[in-house]
Amino acid sequence: MNEQIHDAVTRRTFVHGATVAVGALATGCATSKHIKSAGSLVPGDAPIRIGLIGCGGRGTGAASQALKADPGVVLYAMGDAFPDRLTSSHSHLEKQFSDRADVPEARQFTGFDAYQKVIDSDVDMVILTTPPHFRPQHFKAAVAGGKHIFMEKPMAVDGTGVRSVLDDAKIARDKNLNVMGGFCWRYNLPNRACYKRIHNGAIGDVTCVHSTYLTAPLGTKPRQEGWSDMEWQLRNWQHFNWLSGDHIAEQACHAIDKINWAKGDVPPAKAISLGGRQMRVSPESGNVYDHFSVMYVYDDGSRCFHDCRQMPGCWNDNTEYLIGTHGNCYVNSWGPNQEIKGSHPWSYEGPNPNMYQVEHDELFQAIRGTRGRIDDVDQMMGSTLMAIMGRMSAYSGQPVEWDEAMESEERLGPASYTLGDLPTPSVSVPGNVVSWNELTTAGA
Ligand SMILES: NC(=O)c1ccc[n+]([C@@H]2O[C@H](COP(=O)([O-])OP(=O)(O)OC[C@H]3O[C@@H](n4cnc5c(N)ncnc54)[C@H](O)[C@@H]3O)[C@@H](O)[C@H]2O)c1
Repeated sequence: MNEQIHDAVTRRTFVHGATVAVGALATGCATSKHIKSAGSLVPGDAPIRIGLIGCGGRGTGAASQALKADPGVVLYAMGDAFPDRLTSSHSHLEKQFSDRADVPEARQFTGFDAYQKVIDSDVDMVILTTPPHFRPQHFKAAVAGGKHIFMEKPMAVDGTGVRSVLDDAKIARDKNLNVMGGFCWRYNLPNRACYKRIHNGAIGDVTCVHSTYLTAPLGTKPRQEGWSDMEWQLRNWQHFNWLSGDHIAEQACHAIDKINWAKGDVPPAKAISLGGRQMRVSPESGNVYDHFSVMYVYDDGSRCFHDCRQMPGCWNDNTEYLIGTHGNCYVNSWGPNQEIKGSHPWSYEGPNPNMYQVEHDELFQAIRGTRGRIDDVDQMMGSTLMAIMGRMSAYSGQPVEWDEAMESEERLGPASYTLGDLPTPSVSVPGNVVSWNELTTAGA
């Protein structure tokens, strides 16, 4: 890693950057400085052309939320690796939004270079919702093209990807581009109200957070006749760690983001994890684990804990338990329950609109210039790296420090992409890591 990048991403400078980002988000309103300095806004009621890159479930949902957020939004271009995914997304959106989502064939792009064609098609904003492996590459191109960006979590699957996004985020700042991350709980009003109180000292200093993401497994896609290795892995991407980052990064990162949020986006010093795979035995289970348990150790001596599991027939939970010096707090993501107990007891009683819609409402207000620039990069990359640290430690059986993960040269996945042969990567065995490079070298 070169000196310039290293300077930007050590834990000390990361903490500083995160503080600025949190402050900007917390104020949640425009300043005249923001509006005047923004160079690529679309003020008034001029059309805002959006491009969708990754036309699956989340991408289609995000495009729908973008179209609802502002009557001037037009779905202008679409890109996906596969024509069938693009067509079904397009027909769904066209039914819902008629001519505002009528994308002609000339602006429907497929294949691995579809993202670049969408970005080059005169759009103002892009939605990046492919499997997360591709996010750093697509973010880089979107920033180079001067587009406002909504990008889903996680924003990378390895340290190489995290550094790439952080580096490009500096260019996005210079260009005054809005960059929103899909850590949607940051846009959930009950959660926001609760964490604001936590930051204002409602339970004193937060000494411990325990977050859970204990769920049933995601569905698998059995291989079909005629699919190459690459096509099968792409269509079954959640089960290949080079594409998803493993389920701790792909799914449970939401609960890890809640730890990061509670700790004021201050990075932990290290992660020490356990993990493995007991029920994932079929070929379509790829090479991901089915459970992880992580301890994050902070410089102030506090420790936070995260457990995630994808197994059928087990107890499920998706809750954050916060312990402070003057009380504790319970945040259940899916129920109405957010409760603070202790010297400042509180429970939420306000509105609870769809957080995915709140994301796009706020993003398009920022693109119009009626609120301040949105820059979620530091907080989203902090939470993404925490999830990657958790995975690295579980795979290796060793503690992993923040700087070690940030500086890691690990890059999951092949160097180039074609719909051809691609051996299924091995399952990592703690204490005996089999890396992608070792695997492909051995197979060569
Ligand atoms: N915030 C949330 O609550 C939430 C919910 C669901 C998914 N997500 C995230 O959204 C992302 C997408 O998940 P999904 O559930 O929509 O998956 P999906 O499989 O439904 O959609 C992904 C799409 O990307 C396409 N694709 C794959 N590689 C591509 C490439 N190189 N270029 C262009 N297109 C490519 C696939 O063909 C597919 O259509 C993931 O990062 C996931 O973690 C977030």
